Amino acid sequence: MSSKKRKALDDLEQPGRVFPPLPAPSPPIDVAASDAHFRHLYDRELDFKQLAEKDVDFAAVLQENGNLDFTEPKAVMQLTKTLLSLDFNLKLELPDDRLCPPVPNRHNYILWLKELIDTSSYEPPGRPACGLDIGTGASCIYPLLGTAQRPSWRFFATDIDAKSLQYARRNVMLNQLEGRITVLDRKPEDPLIPLRGRESEKVSGIDFTMMNPPFYESEDEMLCSAQGKARPPHSACTGAPVEMVCEGGEVAHISRMLEESLVLKEEVQWYTSMLGKATSVELLVDKLKATGIDNYAITEFIQGNKTRRWALGWSFWPLRPAEHVARIKSSGWKKVSPPVLSIKILTLPSGKSVDHAVTRINEVMGSMELLSWNWDTEARTGTGKTTENVWSRAWRRKKMREQATGSSVSTSAASTSSPIRCRLGFNIAVEVGVSATMVTVHWREGHDAIMFESLAGFLQGKMKDLG
Ligand SMILES: C[S@@+](CC[C@H](N)C(=O)[O-])C[C@H]1O[C@@H](n2cnc3c(N)ncnc32)[C@H](O)[C@@H]1O
Repeated sequence: MSSKKRKALDDLEQPGRVFPPLPAPSPPIDVAASDAHFRHLYDRELDFKQLAEKDVDFAAVLQENGNLDFTEPKAVMQLTKTLLSLDFNLKLELPDDRLCPPVPNRHNYILWLKELIDTSSYEPPGRPACGLDIGTGASCIYPLLGTAQRPSWRFFATDIDAKSLQYARRNVMLNQLEGRITVLDRKPEDPLIPLRGRESEKVSGIDFTMMNPPFYESEDEMLCSAQGKARPPHSACTGAPVEMVCEGGEVAHISRMLEESLVLKEEVQWYTSMLGKATSVELLVDKLKATGIDNYAITEFIQGNKTRRWALGWSFWPLRPAEHVARIKSSGWKKVSPPVLSIKILTLPSGKSVDHAVTRINEVMGSMELLSWNWDTEARTGTGKTTENVWSRAWRRKKMREQATGSSVSTSAASTSSPIRCRLGFNIAVEVGVSATMVTVHWREGHDAIMFESLAGFLQGKMKDLG
């Protein structure tokens, strides 16, 4: 890069702002195909030989035996640059004394976020969203990865470290993303979410927050960990204390976000953070429950056979994410996970016609006084909304009583001009597999887990004779 261009990048002052709407990508992207590609990028171990064939800079740091020396900062940094370039068409510049992010791990968080945002909505996948990356680091890695995969996403990115901020801005500019990523200077005492307090007038429309918090409680703890992994301290491999250490560690940092979210509530749909310790997830879920938050999601990122990380998200909105996004499958996580979000109501052996099941679902749903019921024949799924438990005996008795006295309990949207609150949104899907067809009900909206389970139980009863 020329010294003139570098000077321009160094001097760049990028004030915070409200973004103008993004133009639709041209040609429009196929979100499902693009997501499928990115989802499987790092399923298999990295093939260093192949990377070296594609990138001479990577070939220069690869050892003769074909291994990469992960204790060597230059090699670690080159791997990150090579993956960003080959897999995401992104450029990166980093100083030697700040954290160099491992791409597959950071990519996992973005993959999870995409599904969290997509599934907690009635809109098709890929809806526009604005993220806030708290503590973006010198790399600005999350906004770079997010915007590379989702043309309709934008970001605010914050940090308190002057050197990281300078490089973050440089990386935004190197990738010509100034129109979609705004980097904001923060002070340690400022709110983590800049929707209140200093400079809040520059920020609006945040749909989700994300954060990879400093997870060590002290510099000693950080140095001990670096020693254990035979890595040089204060380097691209380990990060600087300003990046990695905070009083109280990750639990304190995420608790700060929780406190702020209790004031902001629905202003942001999802508050999320990555975590480095499983015990922190349990502690924080207890805190969420203690404040009455029932809509939350946890996940586990598994990288290779050693490194595990977790992510936690919570929301004051009633829209629920999908089961596989919100709950960790393994039995050890049952108590920490949120309530079940999908319940199987029928299994049909292969060869048995699915038409009867589809007809039955539509008959049953059509006979109830729901707010709405829409069936998509091609996709074999239907979405319903209700204000009340209209399938229960208690509701039917109430309705008969009210009809007898002349008052109405009708819940259909058309029958009233006042807005009616949806208490339960759900989706019924018929999935035809190789060995069986499954009919499943998914919880899409609402705070009442018992109401959702009651609907699933009712449907199981209505479909039982078909199985
Ligand atoms: C572990 S690093 C994560 C960097 C980058 N997001 C990544 O994943 O590689 C934590 C970052 O949080 C920043 N940070 C610490 N306290 C902060 C605060 N109060 N507000 C914003 N950023 C903060 C640090 O300077 C550091 O860059």
